[in-house]
Amino acid sequence: RPRVLSGIQPTADSFHLGNFLGALQQWVPLQEDFDAFYFIPDLHAITVAQDPKELRRRTKIAVAQLLAVGIDPDRSTLFVQSQVPEHAQLAWVLNCITGFGEASRMTQFKDKSAKQGAENASVGLFTYPVLMAADILLYRPQRVPVGEDQRQHLELARDLAQRFNTRFGKAFVIPEAQIIKGTAKIYDLQDPTSKMSKSGPSPAGLINLLDDPKVSAKKIKSAVTDNEREIRYDRETKPGVSNLLTIQSALLGTPVETLVAGYAGKGYGDLKSDTADVLTDFVTPLRTKVDEYLADEAELDRIIAAGAHRAREVSSQTLATVYEKVGFLTPK
Ligand code: TYM
Repeated sequence: RPRVLSGIQPTADSFHLGNFLGALQQWVPLQEDFDAFYFIPDLHAITVAQDPKELRRRTKIAVAQLLAVGIDPDRSTLFVQSQVPEHAQLAWVLNCITGFGEASRMTQFKDKSAKQGAENASVGLFTYPVLMAADILLYRPQRVPVGEDQRQHLELARDLAQRFNTRFGKAFVIPEAQIIKGTAKIYDLQDPTSKMSKSGPSPAGLINLLDDPKVSAKKIKSAVTDNEREIRYDRETKPGVSNLLTIQSALLGTPVETLVAGYAGKGYGDLKSDTADVLTDFVTPLRTKVDEYLADEAELDRIIAAGAHRAREVSSQTLATVYEKVGFLTPK
């Protein structure tokens, strides 16, 4: 079976709606036809300061959320990055074939480091996309399902794979980003021209999957729209309305055009309260499931351990090939 791989960071108490609609939503059905590897990149998380206790707690919540949205640990390999040492080992080799200028052009690094003052950014943050390339290339996946903001990182992973294969002989598959057009970028509810993100300007713009549904419904109802009355999809002139249509459409599985047709003669209040209802129906059972998975700590630990074991079966083989090709001695 062909492979897919993707990861999501454990840097908050909850995944947000952008994470779900851009990425996780794709992960679940891909399990049908692909040998799927999904993981929590905790090594990536520490590129910015983390409280150790919180990191450990959030990593478990992250795993529980993946189980709750429908990642099946019997079919897919679900693991935590730091338990698979090959990620850091391959990252070093890839660091050594990445140009300093090439890494400097990564826009996410530029944005994130600008926020903390470039002088204070860690070297880990700088080399973050190289570690991400290692995450991917170790498992030789054909596809990597992500949101739009990861596209440039995927390009780097492809370039590095190609470069290594050319220089040392074929070790890697060249992966493709799989980005769903409609939901590649979910926008902030208060500033619908920028991406929904946990580090956005206002908490009112962000929907966390595990927040109280009443709080989330209120946020939807106070979403910024525009001064017209007409409900139609137009990202340029009606970003707020378009974002709500996208969210409702994706959660319901109903095309945007069908929703728009149904809103003929109706107002923004209807769009907002329907979207809030759809969201409430989606998150309410999810919260219960997450709590159930978190309550059985022994089972959660077992799933995590089994995932690491399976991941290493693949990652250790790729790393051995790479080490051999770059000229390291084979341990006897
Ligand atoms: P992370 O943890 O920031 O986000 C996880 C996934 O959610 C997507 N996403 C969005 N999609 C649509 N709209 C949004 N507003 C939105 N915000 C986030 C992201 O595109 C991502 O797919 N570097 C990665 C984690 C990572 C990884 C990997 C991913 C580490 N190694 C290897 C794939 C393969 C990250 O920080 O994603």
